[in-house]
Amino acid sequence: MIEFIESRGLKIYTGYQVYKPREDSFLMSDILLEEKIAVDDLIEIGPGTGIILLTLAKSNPNFSYHAVEINFEAALLTRKNSIANELDTIQVICSDNLKPFRKNSIPRIVVFNPPYLPVDPEIDPYTPKYELYQLVGGDKGYETLNTTISLLDSLHYPVALYCIISSLSINPVDFAKLHKQWDTSIMTSQNMGFEVIWVLRMTRSN
Ligand SMILES: C[S@@+](CC[C@H](N)C(=O)[O-])C[C@H]1O[C@@H](n2cnc3c(N)ncnc32)[C@H](O)[C@@H]1O
Repeated sequence: MIEFIESRGLKIYTGYQVYKPREDSFLMSDILLEEKIAVDDLIEIGPGTGIILLTLAKSNPNFSYHAVEINFEAALLTRKNSIANELDTIQVICSDNLKPFRKNSIPRIVVFNPPYLPVDPEIDPYTPKYELYQLVGGDKGYETLNTTISLLDSLHYPVALYCIISSLSINPVDFAKLHKQWDTSIMTSQNMGFEVIWVLRMTRSN
């Protein structure tokens, strides 16, 4: 069932198979606005409803934005919300991560609020794929994000990755140690009681 919410001056259609905008979505949106990112060269992985890109597009309607989303319903919803807000500047490809891109054709700024929870051994084995894609990043929780980082590692130009990790998976110090060739900064964090989430900016010179 498609529902409709109004958030930060945006009309957002949601769907039960698609991640609803929440704390992490707004935390990432706010950081990107603060960073005053104003470029055509930006891609979001996993836009869900499109909330993050729509927030950027509202503030900078003269740029175009790219997205890749593994869940077809979410890809369609991002386009629907783009049109509903008269911000027809977002194009979405339904794909797994950045895998369809030719080497060295990936935009220089990459945004990913990934599924960041570890596999729960108690989880219902019949949990639908779309729900796992929203929440579970692998056995340790950060494997989906690591796939993105590996794909970016092969580029021959500088890139910046804005991403989120959770204390239920790993902390920023240990995560940075896994990716020593990247400069990792904590942009902000939020303590949600049962977990802390951090927005990271990771840059790699080339
Ligand atoms: C935590 S939700 C974030 C949604 C939205 N960006 C937000 O902040 O509200 C993660 C999103 O990533 C998508 N996703 C998960 N794995 C993916 C992959 N391998 N490639 C592309 N999208 C993926 C999910 O379908 C989901 O829409």
